[in-house]
Amino acid sequence: MLLLFVSFVFIVSQHVTWGQLTRSKQVNVDVYVEAQCPFSTRFFANELMPFVRQFPHVMNLTIIPYGNTECHRIDGRVSCKCFHGPNECQLNQLMNCMIHRHPYIYDYLDTVVCIQGQPDLATAHRSCIAGKPDEWMLMKCARSRRGFRLHLKSGVKTLKTGVENVPWITVNGKYNKPSEYAFRREICGVSELC
Ligand SMILES: *[C@@H]1O[C@H](CO)[C@@H](O)[C@H](O)[C@H]1NC(C)=O
Repeated sequence: MLLLFVSFVFIVSQHVTWGQLTRSKQVNVDVYVEAQCPFSTRFFANELMPFVRQFPHVMNLTIIPYGNTECHRIDGRVSCKCFHGPNECQLNQLMNCMIHRHPYIYDYLDTVVCIQGQPDLATAHRSCIAGKPDEWMLMKCARSRRGFRLHLKSGVKTLKTGVENVPWITVNGKYNKPSEYAFRREICGVSELC
């Protein structure tokens, strides 16, 4: 009985130590994308997702959907033009709604990746969010001023970072071009967790 207890404490303390280690050593990764950019779609499918599946705890990951969108104030009203057209703006808005609604990114990463590359909002709805408990709230957000404002907020961060093309990946705050095609090598190069 005592032995059991001792080994239980040992396991728990190991677990806590591992958790603290994980948090303190996480690599900060920001990924700037736009919904219909084929290079962003490729990056998600071929680089980011395989990495996350293999090393689920290495990154503090943030996705910022806005990219080459341009927003201007005309007669007191802001209007935005997305690089691939109005459908892209709606998809960017849906992604931003998703990201702001769920604080823990790994809970919805699959959905954001699914929305990426879809032809329009209706298809993204059918393919990626139909049947989810917050399906209608997300659709409403994507079409509303709230979605518009969240998209703008991502725009502020995108401009501040000086993003020139997408995907634009920063690793611990610094632009890292090679990670677009060698993500695992670049992240594992600065992390002891993989
Ligand atoms: C995770 O990344 C975000 C965005 O870059 C940053 O604001 C936040 O402080 C980071 N969290 C930690 C624990 O480093």
